[in-house]
Amino acid sequence: MSPDELKIWLNHFEYHAERPRCIPPGLADVLRPEERALIASSIATFQLGEQSEGGTLLRAAGRFVELFIREEQRHASLLRSFMEDHGIPLKSSHWTDRAFRRLRRLAGLELYMCVLITAELIGNVYYRVLASATGSQRLKVLCRTLVADELVHVAFESQLLLALRAARPAWARTLMRSTHRAFFAGTASVVWLTHRVLLRHSGHDARTFLRLCLAQYDFYLEPVSLPVSTSVSGRG
Ligand SMILES: [Fe+2]
Ligand SMILES: [Fe+2]
Repeated sequence: MSPDELKIWLNHFEYHAERPRCIPPGLADVLRPEERALIASSIATFQLGEQSEGGTLLRAAGRFVELFIREEQRHASLLRSFMEDHGIPLKSSHWTDRAFRRLRRLAGLELYMCVLITAELIGNVYYRVLASATGSQRLKVLCRTLVADELVHVAFESQLLLALRAARPAWARTLMRSTHRAFFAGTASVVWLTHRVLLRHSGHDARTFLRLCLAQYDFYLEPVSLPVSTSVSGRG
């Protein structure tokens, strides 16, 4: 990734740090009891995941990442205030969250990015499903807000990952790609299992959920290189 590209990303995150995401007040905020029961445990796990402490990554990339982490903490607090207003109990830990934190701590920047982008790509699919599953206007807007931020995060992270990978020999690239994709598919399956009540309710069985997640993965991390057109001549 070139210094100019990095500067563009830094600008983006600084801009957002100065204007933290808000959910407009006054949105209809009714959460029916059966809906609350359906989403409570699931949303609490994702809220916990947003609360990334990010110490390892902070040391790795300073200011850049500080802004990035602040945005994630904003996600956690937006979700938390929604949950508090609806009496949905917060979680202080969940085994999937612990596993992710442990993995991220293990890692250098590249592995850290692999784990992080895995969580965010799957998170994006999840928040879209959650938005479609709820009648609450506020929760819908909240989910769309998170997805809007995360789309930029995954764009940044995938560009960084592909740049790190491109610097490796072909065999290492192939190995990392297939390992990451397998890890991604495994994680998506675990997310389906642990959130299946909500996901099934929204019409997703394990197969369709996995397909949706892998489509996101392939879009960002297995980009198809376009053939270079040879017929661009005689323009103007
Ligand atoms: Fe987030
Ligand atoms: Fe993120």
